[in-house]
Amino acid sequence: MTVAPPPASPDLAVGAFTDHGPWIVDPTQLTWRRDIDRLRRRTRAEVPQLMRRRRLPPGRRVLRVGAVLGGALGHWYVGARRTGSTASRADLSRRLRDAFEELGPTYIKLGQIISSGEGIFPAELVGQFKRLRDQVRPETFDDVRRVVETDFGRPLEEVFSWFSREPVAAASIAQVHRATLCTGEPVVVKVQRPSVAALVRRDLAAMSWIAPVLVGRIPVAALANPPALVELFAETIVEELDFRLEAENMLDTARILAETGESQAMVVPRPHPDLVTRRVLVMEELSGFAFDDLAGMQAAGIDTERIVQAGMVAFLEGAMLYGVFHGDLHGGNLLVLPDGRVGLLDHGITGRLDEPRRLAFLRLLLGGTVNDIRLQLGALRDLGALPPDVDLEAVIRDLKLDGPPIDPTKLTPDELLREIRELTKALLAYGARMPKELMLFVKDMLFLDGAIATLAPDVDLFAEVTRVATHFATRHGDRILRDIGIDPRTVEIDLAGIKGSFGVDADTPSLTYRELQARRQVIQRRMESRQRRHR
Ligand SMILES: Nc1ncnc2c1ncn2[C@@H]1O[C@H](COP(=O)(O)OP(=O)(O)OP(=O)(O)O)[C@@H](O)[C@H]1O
Ligand SMILES: [Mg+2]
Repeated sequence: MTVAPPPASPDLAVGAFTDHGPWIVDPTQLTWRRDIDRLRRRTRAEVPQLMRRRRLPPGRRVLRVGAVLGGALGHWYVGARRTGSTASRADLSRRLRDAFEELGPTYIKLGQIISSGEGIFPAELVGQFKRLRDQVRPETFDDVRRVVETDFGRPLEEVFSWFSREPVAAASIAQVHRATLCTGEPVVVKVQRPSVAALVRRDLAAMSWIAPVLVGRIPVAALANPPALVELFAETIVEELDFRLEAENMLDTARILAETGESQAMVVPRPHPDLVTRRVLVMEELSGFAFDDLAGMQAAGIDTERIVQAGMVAFLEGAMLYGVFHGDLHGGNLLVLPDGRVGLLDHGITGRLDEPRRLAFLRLLLGGTVNDIRLQLGALRDLGALPPDVDLEAVIRDLKLDGPPIDPTKLTPDELLREIRELTKALLAYGARMPKELMLFVKDMLFLDGAIATLAPDVDLFAEVTRVATHFATRHGDRILRDIGIDPRTVEIDLAGIKGSFGVDADTPSLTYRELQARRQVIQRRMESRQRRHR
């Protein structure tokens, strides 16, 4: 007798979840969701207050950061610095990791970004900072119990028949424990660190104080737009500190993945229908391979190139068609399930583009595939990267955007520096700055760059761009036409232009990530030797 597989869970219609979960998600029946829109508005309204610039600089915090980082550097300087470059770098990296961990959530988050910079930052530093993704020092069990009991308003034992004392993972905001509900379902419980809200507030005060000073003193800093960076940090962190908003983000992302037909590529854990509060989030456990466990995935026969390809498409679909994307991609927030699907964890930071910005974003990326400079620049202006009254033709002329592309590996270091200097000067003169809405996106791209490096180094990037563009044209053509009045099915992908933007000739047949990395290294080495000559 053959046993029929159990029928698919009915909630797969409303979200990209695992085939069978511990419960069924019915978005109309979730108790924590009742007042969610008001909660989101109220949370956002808190931001200006958090960023209010104090008259006096937050001296104590600045001193403490200085002391902790200075201590780390000092110990390295008198110790391992002299032991040879590898050992010295390893020692410094370890000390910096300890210092960042000690300084708390803001610095741990910064460390996570650095940990995504494989190939950009030194390997020892990346290796050490990887631990800041999910192996930060946990809180004591007594503190965890206190948070759970305060938020649920009853003893832990009334909710859980079993609760692991040791967390399975601990990151910047929270730690995650495995548990069993009194009703029998296995779950994981994300518990917020008790002091995190206060720590973040204090760091925000320091950052709001320093950001305008940076812009005033270092003109180039204006391009990076530090005040907007602080604002973005404030906005994302206040939302991240309320797990009801995170649970709602989980539902949004799951729904979009289901609607775009990506449930075969990505899944989101199911939040519990009742057990979600500001600081406690009970959800389905996902398990699988760590995102950089290449050997494990290959041994299990998982196609790692497919993971990156599917991830890229799903990410762009969310951003371009819905204006919603996972805003905190790093190795700790992703798992690869044994069936090759990616488990998306930690939806505390979810990027959201309002409708005008989403459309601008769509025009920007479409303009990239057809190499239409005017379309791209107009989109960048609408995203806030350039002032609204900017003269686009003048920008094109001044930045030589309609000239032939430059291959940076064919320039001497001095020529390259001159190009960069001129570009920076022109951008500053036009009042260009990084728009807040693009910052999360760029941070995610840094992660994806590293993900391609580990999971798909031999994929041809030109073929990839063509594949993604074709996917959007065939799958979402009607919708894109409706949105921005351009039919992606009738425009031609400009591969020569795309090759130009990678800095290679139009007749280069293909370019893998490995080759791209080699080109970056050529430039890096030349710049280093120039620096040495000039010392
Ligand atoms: N549903 C889940 N199933 C299995 N493991 C999970 C789940 N949710 C979270 N984890 C693990 O717990 C870790 C911490 O959770 P999470 O990333 O949500 O916390 P965080 O403090 O918000 O992290 P970050 O520092 O990235 O902001 C994750 O990196 C992951 O290893
Ligand atoms: Mg995380």
